[in-house]
Amino acid sequence: MMDKKIGDLFKPVKINQLELKNRLFMPAMGIVTADENGAYTKAAIAFYGARARGGVGLIITGANQVAGLAGKKTVCSFPTPLANPEAYTSAGLELTRAIHEQGTKIFVQLAASWGSLAEQYKGCNAMTTAQIQGLVAAFADSAKIVQAAGFDGVEIETGELLDGLTLAHLNQRCDGYGGVLQNRFRIVCEIISVIKTVCGSSFPVILRFVMKSYLKEGGHQALPDETFVEQGRDREEALAAAVLLVAAGCDGFDVTAGISMFESASYWKYPPVYFGKGVYLELCEVLKKVVAVPVLVAGKMADPELATEALKTGRLDMVGLGRPLLADPELPDKLKNDQSKDIRPCLGCNDGCLAQLIAGHEASCTVNPDCNRELKPMFKTVTNPPKSGGNWRRSGRYGSGPGQCGAGSSGHPL
Ligand SMILES: Cc1cc2nc3c(=O)[nH]c(=O)nc-3n(C[C@H](O)[C@H](O)[C@H](O)COP(=O)(O)O)c2cc1C
Ligand code: SF4
Repeated sequence: MMDKKIGDLFKPVKINQLELKNRLFMPAMGIVTADENGAYTKAAIAFYGARARGGVGLIITGANQVAGLAGKKTVCSFPTPLANPEAYTSAGLELTRAIHEQGTKIFVQLAASWGSLAEQYKGCNAMTTAQIQGLVAAFADSAKIVQAAGFDGVEIETGELLDGLTLAHLNQRCDGYGGVLQNRFRIVCEIISVIKTVCGSSFPVILRFVMKSYLKEGGHQALPDETFVEQGRDREEALAAAVLLVAAGCDGFDVTAGISMFESASYWKYPPVYFGKGVYLELCEVLKKVVAVPVLVAGKMADPELATEALKTGRLDMVGLGRPLLADPELPDKLKNDQSKDIRPCLGCNDGCLAQLIAGHEASCTVNPDCNRELKPMFKTVTNPPKSGGNWRRSGRYGSGPGQCGAGSSGHPL
């Protein structure tokens, strides 16, 4: 039986006309790798399938590449709709079918570019107007392929190259894509409206929206509660931009903060263990006051009471569980079925997931080694566990639930 106090988390919600079965979503995490065609692999389908089976309402995939600088297609291990549209669509259809069978919806996150940050930040000023327009068109072409592959919507990632174009201290352009706020956000507005043109106005388009950079003079990030003068985007600018973006057709905001840095940690984007809970809550609360579209927020939100309270008091519409769903894909169902004591909590260590990714290794999770290895689990089902004296725990948090230690489960030796 579900604890009534958290019942609101399991009420449906709409983004544009798309109904989601509950208020829980998985934000973008670029964990899975693509095949040589830039298409989803069986392993990726198993990774997302495990999260859908665990009961989350909406999955937003890790960033898919749209195009590199100058509209060039880039080839790397991230899914890329334009690399081989046929292969992408065929694998995408398999993925979306698996997710939809669980009653979960799935959006693709589209990102302008990956690669060296220095290249991207410099590149935003070197691009010709025609190259910018080529990039906008690449977003539209990618979204069309994503839609054909059965995905329910897209999220535009506004970091990196788009950070370069939208942030005043990085954008030094003198054309219609530089200068005042309206010009700096022109590219994002154009991307939204061109996707709406090619995919239809009911196809949901949301934004990963950096509401505050937390950038200090000297190029380092500020800590929570630190007094500093913001060098990047502040919430006033974010609120003014949000009004323009809604007018362009934006169907929802997935709030985040921080900026990818050249030489220092981007810890606002990946809030570490020493950050408190609900790190973006005060940002999304002010955004809720100026937009009528849904506001989604992750960032250490795996506290059901905090999440329910934030929902009840109108500070957000959907609660994001990123790393908590790497640590325990069944978190939503466990919450719903009053089994919260069995939830395997994320430590916020960033060790098994982000650090592995940055080092170019297979990303997983420190407390869930089967994460991103769903087809080749590290631990086999125990069919004949030792009766006594064995080194096994059978109850409590690491008890006998699926994927945990104990008889009849995939046991983790402790
Ligand atoms: C391994 C890893 C990869 C990520 N990849 C992306 C990404 O591709 N796009 C994006 O917008 N955010 C990305 N993020 C940020 C998450 O979407 C999320 O905002 C962040 O982890 C905070 O939420 P959480 O505390 O629920 O994990 C990533 C985070 C992690 C840990
Ligand atoms: S590796 Fe650490 S931070 Fe990443 S999901 Fe697992 S416990 Fe959380």
